[in-house]
Amino acid sequence: MSVATSTRSFPCSEALLEQALSAIPLGSQTFSKSLTQLPRGVSPLFVDRAEGARFWDVDGHPYIDLTNGLACVTLGYRHTTVDSAVRAQLERGVSFSLPHSLELRVAERIIAMVPCAEMVRFAKNGTDATSGAIRLARYCTGRERVAICGYHGWQDWSIGTTSRHGGIPQAVRDLSHSFPYNNLEALAAVLDSHPGEFAAVILEPMNVAWPQPGYLEGVQALAREHGAVLVFDETITGFRFSNGGAQELFGVTPDLATFGKGLANGFPLSALTGRRVLMERISEIFFSGTFGGETLSLAAAEAVLDTLAQQPITQLLSDRGQQLADRVETVIAHQGLAEVFGLSGHPSWKIWSIRSHANASDWDIRTLLLQELYARGIFTIGSHNISAAHDQACLDAVVAAYGEVLPLLAQALASPGGVRRLLRCEPLAPLFRVR
Ligand SMILES: Cc1ncc(COP(=O)(O)O)c(C=O)c1O
Repeated sequence: MSVATSTRSFPCSEALLEQALSAIPLGSQTFSKSLTQLPRGVSPLFVDRAEGARFWDVDGHPYIDLTNGLACVTLGYRHTTVDSAVRAQLERGVSFSLPHSLELRVAERIIAMVPCAEMVRFAKNGTDATSGAIRLARYCTGRERVAICGYHGWQDWSIGTTSRHGGIPQAVRDLSHSFPYNNLEALAAVLDSHPGEFAAVILEPMNVAWPQPGYLEGVQALAREHGAVLVFDETITGFRFSNGGAQELFGVTPDLATFGKGLANGFPLSALTGRRVLMERISEIFFSGTFGGETLSLAAAEAVLDTLAQQPITQLLSDRGQQLADRVETVIAHQGLAEVFGLSGHPSWKIWSIRSHANASDWDIRTLLLQELYARGIFTIGSHNISAAHDQACLDAVVAAYGEVLPLLAQALASPGGVRRLLRCEPLAPLFRVR
C-alpha cells in the first residue's frame, strides 16, 4: 500500500508570525511554542480558540491537541466546573490588597492530597516554586551547592547547567552540579565531590524513564546521608500521575515538592509545599509576589482539586494514555519502526523517542512526523499530554493519523534521502537540550 503525504496551508499563521517577529523576539513567550519546535511552513503557529480536547488555529483548522498548553491543561479546555468557578470569582474581584480565603482553601486541599505537604505557598510559574525550594533549602542548611537532574525552569541555578547559559554568572553555575537519572552511583559521586556542601538534591521523580526499583528510595537515602534537602519537582507529574503526585505513586516522600502545570487547568498557579519544619522558615527569607494570591487561578485550582477528589481523573488519564500508547506501538511494530521511533514514560505523559536511521537523521524524522500529523489535524510537539477531554473518538482519530503517517515514514526510510524528499519545509535543528 502506498501512503500519500497530506497538506494544509497556514497563510494567517505565517502573516501573524511575520508581524510578531518584529515586535516579539522569537514571536513567542515560550521556547516550546516557537519556531524552534515547529517546522515553518507546515505548522500552525498561532491559536485562535480551544474547547475540550481541540484547538483551532488562526487559519480555521481544528486539531486534537496532544500538547495541551505544555501539559497544563489536564481536564480539557474550557472545563465547565473550572470556568464557572473562575467566572464567579471574576464577579468578586481578581487581585486584592489583603490575602483571600481561597489561599487557605486551596492550601488545605493540597495538604490533604499530597503526602509531603504540611504547609503551602503559592506563586505563578513552576520556575517560581522551584526557585523558592532551592532558596529555602540553602537557607535551612546554610549551604550553597545544589545537585540537579533535569529541567526546573529558567532561573540561573537551573538553566545554567545547560548549553544555554548566556547571562548567567560563572559563580552561580559553579554551584549547580548535574547528575543523570536512575544512576545512584553518579549522584553519590556528585555529593561526595564536595562533602557537607550540598543544600539540595532536586529532580523530577519521573520523566522519560520509570524509576528503577529502589532508585527514588536511594536518592532519598543519599540526600539524608549528606544532610541535603530532597526536592521533588512535580511541576508536570503533580495532579497528573496521581492525586498525590509521583511521590504518592512511587511511595517516596520528599522534604519539599513543587507543583505547577497540573494545578489549575491552564490558569497560572504554582505551589511550593513540604515539611512544616522547613516550610515555616520561608517567612525568614524572601519568597513573595504581587500575584501569588491572585484569585482567578486559585478559584480554578480549587475547582480542579475538587474535581480530582470527586472523580478518578488521574486513573482516566493513565488508562486513556495507555490505550493510545498500546495502539500506536502496534502500528510502530507492524511498520518495523521500533528501531527509530518509540514512546517512553508514564501513560498520561508519553514522550517520543526518535533515533537516527541510516537514511535519515532523528531531526528529519521528527520534522516529517510533525508535518504529517499537523496535516491530519493532530497537534503535538513530541508527546502525548493526555487530558480528561481525550475521549474515545479522539483516541481513534489520533491512532488513525499515526496509522497513515507511520507507514509513510517507513516507506520514506527505505531509500537514502527519502524522508528529506517528503519534507515541504526546512527540517528542525537541535538547539539546546534542557533535559
Ligand atoms: C519539571 C519542570 N519544572 C519546572 C518547569 C518550569 O515551569 P514554568 O515554565 O511554569 O516556569 C517546567 C516547565 O516546563 C518543568 O517541566
